[in-house]
Amino acid sequence: MLTVSNLSVQFGKRILFDEVNATFTQGNCYGIIGANGAGKSTFLKILAGEIDPTSGQVILEPGKRMSVLNQNHNMFDEHTVLDTVLMGNKVLHAVKKEMDDLYADYSDENADRIGELQMQFDEMNGWNADSDAATLLSNLGINEESHYSLMADVEPKLKVRVLLAQALFGNPDVLIMDEPTNDLDFETIGWLENFLANYENTVLVVSHDRHFLDAVCTHVSDIDFGKINHYSGNYTFWYESSQLAAKQRAQQNKKAEEKKAELEEFIRRFSANVAKSKQATSRKKMIEKLNISDIKPSSRRYPAIIFEQEREAGDQILNIQGLKAISEGEPLFQNVDFNMAKGDKVVVFSKDSRATTAFYEILNGNLQADAGKFDWGITTSQAYLPADNQSFFQEDLTLVDWLRQWAKTEEERDEVYVRGFLGKMIFSGEEALKKGSVLSGGEKVRCMISRMMMLRANVLMLDEPTNHLDLESITAFNNSLKNFKGSVLFTTHDYEFAQTVGNRILELTPNGVIDRYMTFDEYLEDPKIKELRDKMYS
Ligand SMILES: Nc1ncnc2c1ncn2[C@@H]1O[C@H](COP(=O)(O)OP(=O)(O)OP(=O)(O)O)[C@@H](O)[C@H]1O
Ligand SMILES: [Mg+2]
Repeated sequence: MLTVSNLSVQFGKRILFDEVNATFTQGNCYGIIGANGAGKSTFLKILAGEIDPTSGQVILEPGKRMSVLNQNHNMFDEHTVLDTVLMGNKVLHAVKKEMDDLYADYSDENADRIGELQMQFDEMNGWNADSDAATLLSNLGINEESHYSLMADVEPKLKVRVLLAQALFGNPDVLIMDEPTNDLDFETIGWLENFLANYENTVLVVSHDRHFLDAVCTHVSDIDFGKINHYSGNYTFWYESSQLAAKQRAQQNKKAEEKKAELEEFIRRFSANVAKSKQATSRKKMIEKLNISDIKPSSRRYPAIIFEQEREAGDQILNIQGLKAISEGEPLFQNVDFNMAKGDKVVVFSKDSRATTAFYEILNGNLQADAGKFDWGITTSQAYLPADNQSFFQEDLTLVDWLRQWAKTEEERDEVYVRGFLGKMIFSGEEALKKGSVLSGGEKVRCMISRMMMLRANVLMLDEPTNHLDLESITAFNNSLKNFKGSVLFTTHDYEFAQTVGNRILELTPNGVIDRYMTFDEYLEDPKIKELRDKMYS
């Protein structure tokens, strides 16, 4: 139903897609995977007609409609929730806007045009649009009180639901989503998994979240080597089989029959598991032909993330007294008393991600606390990775000039020095000279990590560090934090990250904090803490 033929895309010398042919079939859910910068978002933008390919074409079956959930969840911040949903039907929204503008400035001259527009609006059933949108929102768990709030004030996990409502508005035949699980908590991710598993139309979803991919995909579409290859089965199957393919390729001399037997055994085991999984029952899809023989070992690379401290901090790291933040009249957190010891790696945790983000924004001087105070130890220096990095990429600098902004000495301004940090994050040669404005979501985070490495701070603050990153980068990041000798405050929805890095949990609730030296796992499982948590959020 959706076909791509001879598609090529080139930016300067870099060939992103080379004569790609692919067909997406009705009713399947395709998980689009690939390294940061491989071209996933670009591919989706081409499908949606937002950008033109260098050559080739996209063919959507006539009469079918496609809609998109964008990777940037803050794009509609200045619109209301309801308007954001209405914007999902672009034609209808344009007609309504022109009509409203003309009414506001009514004269005999524009009466004719208004008449025309009204007719179009009628035909599209426009008068029901508001109530249709409101129903859709309510079905997705957004209650009516918030339909007229600005998107900027909406809790991130609910924001994604609004954007999903936007994408679903008008019941598209093909739903395209770029990293929908960013900014979501575990519970909402579970909700989305369920929603997609039961969604009947075609879905193309980009994600780096392997659990999510396994729960929703009937097919994996791997973008690598400038091509797109479909594999039936979920992410785990693709991953395991690509590892097996790489291993078999390394053992060139192994006999053909032995290889074949090993493959068959692998597929048999896998299919037996899939038959039992949620995806097989809810989407009623069985693994069709397993084309393992076409799987190529991937070209993904690991960045080298190493955080060093310019100097070690003394014993005073951070002292917080009575800190409070309010949003929309309600406390996000209050009575926060907290003393951070040297070497603490604190998981800052909350059911409401606005609370954790406000906490970091206050500690970094970007936001004023509503009560209380905090003091950084005089020997400390901080580096912060915010959840939203948009403001860092407003100016159109090359990556070398971008990173140079944080050089502290003449020596650090040197191109070779700056390039060293970019190179560690796999921007080398020409790649280091591209402009910040063209970077992919994951590449922006990689730049932000280069910046953090160059700052050589002794306290790191990380708000959802794994968002946008591919698995290779997440693994490297995770290991670097385990090995870091300084102190860390971090918030993540990545369980493994929280469990392997953190040694202390600080939970921010509207009624105070819970502060414990233990692992994340111990914290979640402790029945006394569970009871306490229930009380603190009520
Ligand atoms: N206009 C442009 N000029 C030059 N390079 C570009 C342009 N637009 C995109 N790129 C580059 O193309 C590559 C693919 O970008 P894209 O956003 O599609 O990646 P992605 O696969 O979605 O990555 P991520 O997982 O990080 O979101 C990136 O290296 C990006 O810097
Ligand atoms: Mg992307």
